[in-house]
Amino acid sequence: MSNAIVSALNLLQADYAVFYQKLRGYHWTVTGPMFFQLHQKFEELYLDMAIKVDDLAERSLTLGGSPVTTIKGMIELSRLHEDAEPPNAAAMVRTVYTDLNLLTVWNREVAALAAKEDDVATANLLEGMADTQEKEAWMLRAFLES
Ligand SMILES: [Fe+2]
Repeated sequence: MSNAIVSALNLLQADYAVFYQKLRGYHWTVTGPMFFQLHQKFEELYLDMAIKVDDLAERSLTLGGSPVTTIKGMIELSRLHEDAEPPNAAAMVRTVYTDLNLLTVWNREVAALAAKEDDVATANLLEGMADTQEKEAWMLRAFLES
C-alpha cells in the first residue's frame, strides 16, 4: 500500500465530507425566487457527495488505510471551509462552484499520483468523480451567467 495515496484519499474524504455538510446547510437555508430549483439542486449534490465520501473511505480501507470517522477530524483535515455566516442564494451557488472546481483539481492530482504508482482502481475512481464534477461545474457556470 502507498502511504501517499492513502493519505491523499483520507484528505479528499475530509474535503468531501465538509462539502457535503455545506450543501445540506444550503438545502435547508436557501431563500428567494430560486428557492425550489436550488433547494432541489443542493439535495441532488449532497446525495452525490455522500456516495463519494463513502467511496473514498472504502478505497482507503481497501488499501489498508484508516478513513476519517469523526466530524472534528474531518473539519481539522479539510481544505474546504465552512461559512462564517449563512450566505445568500447567489453566494451559495458561487461557493458550490468554487469548491467543486477545487475538488476536481485535487481529484486529478491524486489520480495522477495513483496512475504513476499503477493503482488503476484509485485513478479510475478519482477520474470518474472529476468527470461528473466538471459537467456539474459547467451547469453551475451557466446558471451564474443567467
Ligand atoms: Fe430535505
